[in-house]
Amino acid sequence: MKYQKICVLGLGYIGLPTACTFATHGIEVIGVDINAEIVQGLQNGHIHIFEPGLRSLVQNAIQSGKLRFQPTPEKVDAFIIAVPTPITPEKKADLAAVKAAAESIVPHLQRGNLVILESTSPPRTTCDIVAPILEKSGLKAGDDFLLAYSPERVLPGKILEEIIQNTRVIGGIDKPSASAGKELYSTFVKGDILLTNATTAEMVKLMENTYRDINIATANEFAHLADRFGVNAWEAIEIANRHPRVNILKPGPGVGGHCISVDPWFLVEAAPDISPLVHTAREVNDGQPGYVVDLMKRKLGALDGKKICALGLAYKADIDDLRESPAIEIVELLLKEKAAITVFEPFKPDGFHGNARAVDTLEDALQDCEIMLLLVAHHQFTGLDPHNVRQMTTATVAVDMCGGWQRQAWEAAGFQFLKLGQPSI
Ligand SMILES: NC(=O)c1ccc[n+]([C@@H]2O[C@H](COP(=O)([O-])OP(=O)(O)OC[C@H]3O[C@@H](n4cnc5c(N)ncnc54)[C@H](O)[C@@H]3O)[C@@H](O)[C@H]2O)c1
Repeated sequence: MKYQKICVLGLGYIGLPTACTFATHGIEVIGVDINAEIVQGLQNGHIHIFEPGLRSLVQNAIQSGKLRFQPTPEKVDAFIIAVPTPITPEKKADLAAVKAAAESIVPHLQRGNLVILESTSPPRTTCDIVAPILEKSGLKAGDDFLLAYSPERVLPGKILEEIIQNTRVIGGIDKPSASAGKELYSTFVKGDILLTNATTAEMVKLMENTYRDINIATANEFAHLADRFGVNAWEAIEIANRHPRVNILKPGPGVGGHCISVDPWFLVEAAPDISPLVHTAREVNDGQPGYVVDLMKRKLGALDGKKICALGLAYKADIDDLRESPAIEIVELLLKEKAAITVFEPFKPDGFHGNARAVDTLEDALQDCEIMLLLVAHHQFTGLDPHNVRQMTTATVAVDMCGGWQRQAWEAAGFQFLKLGQPSI
């Protein structure tokens, strides 16, 4: 195996599990992050993100003697870039971290090295942006070093399993680069490894998330239409999905996270004249928090002064990631309506920094409120027994904006019930 020592740049949700997995499979790994606190924390055994199983994986990797953390890269056989690629407020790709990471590799790049970009990136980033930066080393991409793009497609909450089992796509700037990528990832990947060119691999990742975004937008728009026509969207979707070639997703409070709410904009920015569907789906999903708050106002009256406890802030169930979370946007919109908000996010109790009361326990959240608002279908919330909740709260109204509760059960326990896609009250 050519790649005995590698450097992983960016130690977040993707980079840290990647670095650890390589290390526990015998590769010597230098984990690099520009955030000194993260590096120092990891050096002292503190893990800054939550992902099931990650704590023991990091411990195993460190104990194996194959993993160490530092703020800058050094000379290695291969570099993997897993830094953030967010969007700007204008919905443009912010590639500053990718560019900075590539720049930081330049002084250490050697003939025969392999560089892999894992960060989700707009089409042509590997060839048009990363390659020219790396070539400042005086080495030529393809001739002197190998360069590939390999998107990460793991599901938060299942990252450690999927990083090994998923099919992996590796797009090289040329065939030797793709094959080199395959050799490196074969260290631990058990799924198929598909080789293609770099721009195709970039497109694959963006197409996957855009496809999901459009399907979610369809479900959300169906929920709006169902509301207009007095139809229960959940029942209608369930029946429609009995058609052998239909699989409509579920409506929800919006789309968040680092990927699906961001990546389609890369396509819209790159080719606005030919991506109207992608653009509209983004707008539908981005409009969903506003729709949720309007629905509450329509059904429950003015929210001014109403005591609302918001259950969940993460962008999806059973994770601690609050990035781009529609739940947070809903809380902020409710604050603008002058509601008195208590927030409870069990996976990150101190994660909300706005003008709401954040509490550490469900008991504290429920104790003194009028409306319970379910924003994230964490198991802790979907498993609640409404009769028990009745004893824990002064609330008389239960609102479900993510499809985690059943109307019948909550009404049977004496609550008024409001649900996205199945409104009434
Ligand atoms: N989180 C996911 O589930 C997921 C899934 C698939 C793809 N991705 C993509 O993977 C990439 C990384 O995402 P993430 O969720 O791991 O991000 P993250 O924010 O959790 O972690 C990124 C880390 O990179 C560090 N960093 C920034 N600039 C750096 C630099 N120049 N050098 C070294 N470190 C630097 C940051 O300090 C941070 O710790 C993004 O492009 C994202 O879209 C993420």
